[in-house]
Order: sequence, then structure tokens, then C-alpha cells
Amino acid sequence: MYPLIRNRRLRASESIRRLVRETIITPDDFLVPLFVVEGKGIKEEIPSMPNYYRLSLDNLEKETKELWKMGLCAVLLFVKVPNNLKDNKGTEALNAEGLMQRAIKTVKDACPEMLVMTDVALDPYSAYGHDGIVAEGQILNDETAEILAEMSVSHAQAGADFVAPSDMMDGRILSIREALEDEGFQNTGIMSYSAKYASAFYGPFRDALDSAPVDIANVPKDKKTYQMDFANRFEAIRETQMDIDEGADIVMVKPGLAYLDIVREIKNEVDVPVAVYQVSGEYAMLKAAAEKGWLDHDAVMTEQLIAIKRAGANIIASYFAKDFIRVMG
Ligand code: PBG
Repeated sequence: MYPLIRNRRLRASESIRRLVRETIITPDDFLVPLFVVEGKGIKEEIPSMPNYYRLSLDNLEKETKELWKMGLCAVLLFVKVPNNLKDNKGTEALNAEGLMQRAIKTVKDACPEMLVMTDVALDPYSAYGHDGIVAEGQILNDETAEILAEMSVSHAQAGADFVAPSDMMDGRILSIREALEDEGFQNTGIMSYSAKYASAFYGPFRDALDSAPVDIANVPKDKKTYQMDFANRFEAIRETQMDIDEGADIVMVKPGLAYLDIVREIKNEVDVPVAVYQVSGEYAMLKAAAEKGWLDHDAVMTEQLIAIKRAGANIIASYFAKDFIRVMG
């Protein structure tokens, strides 16, 4: 009892704080999202994501080698698809010579040990900017899940280690798992975006890929019929448990910071690795505040990443991965 017990003794110097620190982050914790575009020599900054870029394949090769040198061991690939290749069913997603398929090979050729995860959803390929097929103002579930399964097989054929379905259709994990098994890809993993909320924090990402839902008649203006209502908690556990039952190897909560209560609940509930996606809007907020001189970029970044890990993240998908390693020194 006080004054015999003084909690401040364990905070008295940096050395004692280091000794008793409960949470640390290493390069092993990060999954690095990368945006890929057609062309050559392209490294274009995304306006709402300062210091983050869309890369053509030649620059993707360079970036892969740089990430590996920095100690980062896993990437999550997204592609920006030219408008003339977009349609309602995401036909281009199944092209064996498509941009995603070439991007997977580019990373694997540059660095065979780099773990490659791929985004699986129709939105970058959809003329309507939706994660599934649009019909009469609805997003079709089962028809979409079938395409996602074919898409996953195509990514596995190109060399992806894990597919990461980010669409939130019901039953898609089982469809994908079965398709991978049927085609001989028993060792290709699935990281499911299992508790993905309909969030306004995805804005800058949709700028990066030009993938926002389009504003035309009979096309839903938002993704609320498939992504989760951010008011809900129990539903996140059910979604996650179902994805595990269907064969997900890794589950995910997305976005990050505003959803750490969900991260902790899921971490307490399940025994597979839990990933957290610190999304584009979270990145943009800090970059903007730091640019104005209102927040200390490196200090706030570190605090946020530690908070995500402390909440229960085993894997952090973050645009800050390189910044963090730079700060770590
Ligand atoms: C696409 C997808 C999105 C993100 C990852 N995959 C956007 C969306 O669902 O609209 C968001 C990532 C981010 O904001 O950083 N299915």
C-alpha cells in the first residue's frame, strides 16, 4: 500500500521503462500495402496520401527490394485498373496477364521470399466501383463469390502466397477455399477481411485507385449493404467466427484506430492471427495535421501503431511501415 508501493518507480528512467515495456513493434509486424499502375517509370504521389505512391512494375521491383532490405517481409497488392478494362463482372480480374498477375510475378522475381498477399474484390475492376456485381440496384452475393473464387485461383497461379478477400460477401471464404483446394493450391492461405466496416476512412484509398462507387441511377451510392454497420460489435464476432469456420487462416479488423475495441474483443475470442488495417484515412489525417505543424508526426505515428498492437493485432497493414522503420533507426 502507498507509500510502500509507488508505481512511478517503474517509470523513473528510460532504461527501466524499456525493461518493463509490454508492447514493442518490429518490422515483422508489418504488412505493406502497395498500389500498382500500368506504364513505365511511374511513381506518382497520391494527392490525399502524401509520400505514398502508385508504382509501375519497374518501380514495384525496386520498391520490393528496398522493403526487403529494410527488414519488411510481406506486401499487400492493389492495382489501379484502366477505365476501358472495367465492366460489371470484373472480367479483367481473371486475365492471367492482367496487372495484378504481373505484379505478383514482379515481386516474386525481385525477391522470392517476400510474402505476397493480394486484394480480392471487384471494385478496382468494376465500372460501378462496387466490390460485387450490380443488378437492379443490388449487389449480387453468390454470383460475386464465384468470381472471387476464380480470381483467387488466378492469383495463386501467378504466385500469390495469400489471397485477401476484402469484399464482405457472405460465404466467399468457403467458395475461395474450395476453389483453391480443387485447383491444387492447398498451401495458398486466406487472410479474410472478416470485420470490415462501411467506413468514410477509405476515401483516400478510393482516390488512389479511382475505385469509388459511381453516382448513376440504380447503383448503390455506398457499400452499406455488404460492409458492416460501424455501430455494431457482436456482429463483428459472428462475422469473424464464420470466416474461420469457412477456412480463413488470418482474420482482420478494418479500419484500425477507431475500432480497437473490436480488435480486443476478437483477439479474446479467436485463436487465429488477427490483422488490423490502419487505413488510408488514418494515414491522411496524421499527414495533414503534421504538415500544418499541429501534431508531431513521428511521436503520434508511434503511439498509434503501439496502440494497435497493444489492442491485440498480430499483423498491422499500414502505410506507415517505412516511416516507422526510419524512426526506429
Ligand atoms: C476494396 C478495398 C478498400 C480498402 C481495401 N480494400 C476500399 C473499400 O472497401 O471501399 C480500403 C483501404 C484503405 O482505405 O486504406 N475492397
